[in-house]
Amino acid sequence: ETVEWEAASYDMGGHDTYMHKEISEQPDAVDRVLRGRIDDRFSTVHLGGLNLDAREARGIRRVKILGCGTSYHAGLIGAGLIESLARIPADSEPASEFRYRNPVVDPDTLYIAVSQSGETYDVLAAVQELKRKGARVLGVVNVVGSAIARETDGGVYVHAGPEVCVVSTKCFTNTVVAFALLALHLGRIRDLSVADGKRIIEGLRRLPSQISEVLESEDEIKKLAAEYADAKSMMFIGRVRGYPVALEASLKLKEISYIHAEAYPASELKHGPLALIEPALPTVAIVPDDELLEKNRAALEEIKARSGRILAVAHQEQEKADHTILVPKNEDELDPILMGIPLQLLAYHTALALGRDIDKPRNLAKSVTVE
Ligand code: G6P
Repeated sequence: ETVEWEAASYDMGGHDTYMHKEISEQPDAVDRVLRGRIDDRFSTVHLGGLNLDAREARGIRRVKILGCGTSYHAGLIGAGLIESLARIPADSEPASEFRYRNPVVDPDTLYIAVSQSGETYDVLAAVQELKRKGARVLGVVNVVGSAIARETDGGVYVHAGPEVCVVSTKCFTNTVVAFALLALHLGRIRDLSVADGKRIIEGLRRLPSQISEVLESEDEIKKLAAEYADAKSMMFIGRVRGYPVALEASLKLKEISYIHAEAYPASELKHGPLALIEPALPTVAIVPDDELLEKNRAALEEIKARSGRILAVAHQEQEKADHTILVPKNEDELDPILMGIPLQLLAYHTALALGRDIDKPRNLAKSVTVE
């Protein structure tokens, strides 16, 4: 596998940047993380390297996900998937914080380390500390045979292929899909019905073509990026499943465009950030067609009432928004995967419009192997 990667790694394949190449590769990448893992007979998935038998899986009382940067954000969506599909309380925390707070290590908690490179020092150190205390730690890792992959008790490879751009795009998407597989697997061992298993499997199978569909709106997103590139700062909002999408989109924008951005749960606007809203501070809103649609719309109204500009990422045109980027609907649980993709392109084209060095943003490194 490693050898296969090296040949393909450094060819830009006609793209101007690795980031653009990697964004474009997502339909194939997602296809790869799904390949050979779906079991239609039992409406579940097989994850060969998990090293967790059904009895052990039933004994898990809590899941704690650890990662840094984009991997931490993928972990937040992963935690939501595990809670909703497997009904196990789950959360994600920056590995760097976790390891410095003398965490309570509980034998019934499953720990999951997330890392593209598999070499991030803070994640590796958290894994080693957990193992020293006798915890079970799995990895959700992209680079096969990396340090974190070797130190963990088992896990799920993300199979995104080599990612060269400093900021992560296809690996983020694939990591979230890997979590969806893990959540489905745990769910089907516990209380997720056959019908729900099937529904999620069908949703997963639709992802590659739906991602291609999103990528077709690139020209439109490029125009929007030109319109918003003069902003000094941008607000990103979402709720529940949409909030980690907002966090990741805001990280992507700041990493490569150097525009200040912050992400907030839409429900928290009234507790502070509304004070910032004015025409000079545009808001990007994640507005899926789910049980929170009306709540999200109310947030758009509050922003509009204060003359804020709004760019919505939604399943249907949003009346209060100045612009809406439409994405195809999947199952509610899987919608965050598709909603993140246009915002990778938005960050990309904003950075391009500002003349930034997209593949090598200032002050950042692809993998941080020191503390
Ligand atoms: C660095 C990179 C980020 C990445 C983070 C975690 O900060 O610039 O893009 O998300 O490390 O990397 P990992 O390889 O552990 O996913």
